[in-house]
Amino acid sequence: MRYAQITGWGKYAPPLLMTNDDMAKIVDTSDEWIFSRSGIRQRHYSHISTGDMAWLAAEKALAAAGLDADDIDLIVLGSTTPEEICPNTASYIMNKLGASKAAAFDINSACTSWFYALNAATDMVRAGSINRALVIGSERISLAMDWQKRESCFLFGDGAGAVVIEASEQESGLLASKISCIPDSRECLRLPDWGMTPTHLTDNLFISLDFEGQEIFKSAVKGMSDAITDVLEKQNLSADDIDLFIPHQANIRIIQTLAKRLNFPMEKVVVAIHKYANTSAASIPLALCDALEEGRIVPGMKILTATFGAGLTCGAGIIQWGDRVEPLGVSDASVADYEGTVFDLMADSFVHYGVDAKHLLSK
Ligand code: ACO
Repeated sequence: MRYAQITGWGKYAPPLLMTNDDMAKIVDTSDEWIFSRSGIRQRHYSHISTGDMAWLAAEKALAAAGLDADDIDLIVLGSTTPEEICPNTASYIMNKLGASKAAAFDINSACTSWFYALNAATDMVRAGSINRALVIGSERISLAMDWQKRESCFLFGDGAGAVVIEASEQESGLLASKISCIPDSRECLRLPDWGMTPTHLTDNLFISLDFEGQEIFKSAVKGMSDAITDVLEKQNLSADDIDLFIPHQANIRIIQTLAKRLNFPMEKVVVAIHKYANTSAASIPLALCDALEEGRIVPGMKILTATFGAGLTCGAGIIQWGDRVEPLGVSDASVADYEGTVFDLMADSFVHYGVDAKHLLSK
C-alpha cells in the first residue's frame, strides 16, 4: 500500500507583533475583552507578501525533510490572500525555491485551504501520480482588517506553515479525511469585493470582512463535529485512540466546545491561538510546527485535525506520524527585518479604513 508520509515541516511567523494592548490604542477594546472572548493575546503582522512567507516556510520544510527543491513534484499553496491570482502564487514560490520539476497550483477554501490542499496532494501521492509535494498554508490577512469593525479586526494574524509529504510504504500521513461545505452558510463570513467584480474598476477598492460571529461559532462546531465523527468511524477509532488534537485556531471557546463534545482532555489539544490569533490557512501547519518544536509529537502518534472556514467549508483528518520528529536540516533562508513599528507597518491601512493613528507612528 502507498501512503503520503509527512517528512518535513517549517513555519514563518513574522517578527512584528500587534498585542491586544496595541489594538486597544486603535479601537475601543481591551486585552481582557479580547482574551476572554477568543483566547487571543497577540497576532503577528507581516511586512512581506503571502508568497514570500510561504517561500520561507517551504525552505524550512525542505531542509527538515533533507530534500532539494528539485526533488519536489508538486507545490500547492492554500491561501485566501495570495497577492497574485494570475499567474498563481504557487508558481512564484516555485521560482523562489528554484524548483524546476514541480507542478504548481493554489487552492482557496478560506481557513480550510491548507487542509484541502493536504487532501489533494495526499491523494495524488497515494494514487502514484507524484512522489513528493510541498503543501503550504500562508496568509497576509492583516491587509483586510477593517479598523471600523472592532468585532472582527482583533481575530486575525499573518503567518505561514508548510509540510513536505513523500510516498512511503509505511502506514503514515493522512489516513482518513472528510472535507465538506455546509449548504446555505456562505453569507455568514465573507470578504465582499475580494475578487474580480466590476468594483475593481473603481479607484478605491474597499475590502471589509462581513461577519456573523455567533452563527459561525455554531456552524463551525457542528461542521467539525460531523467531520470528526466521519473520520473516526472510517478508521474504526474512538476519541480515546487519538494522541493529539490539532484544530483550526479561530477561537479558544470553539476549540474547548469541540473538545468537550468529543470528551477529549484539553491536555491533548494543541492551542496556539494566544500567540498567532486566527491565521486562516496557516493555522494548522503553524500549530503542527509548534507541537513538533515543543516535543509534543512522538513517532507513530495518531493526530486528529479539524478545520472550518468561509463557505462554510469544513474538514477533519487522522494523521499518523512517521518515525522522525527531528528535522534533518535547517534552512538559513531569511528576509530583511522591517525598520519601524507595527503601527508604522499598518499606517496605510489605518488611513484607508478611516482611523486616525498618526500619533502612534514613529516616522
Ligand atoms: N471589544 C470590546 N467589545 C466588543 C468588541 C471588542 N473588540 N467587539 C464587540 N464588542 C461588544 C459588542 O459591541 C457587544 O456589545 P453590546 O452587548 O453592548 O451590543 C458585545 O461586545 C458582545 O458582542 P458579540 O459580537 O455578541 O460578542 P461575542 O460574545 O459573540 O464574541 C466573537 C464575538 C469572539 C467574534 C464570537 O462571536 C466568536 O467567537 N465567533 C466565532 C469565531 C469566529 O468567528 N472567528 C472568525 C474566524 S472564522 C474562521 O476561522 C473561518
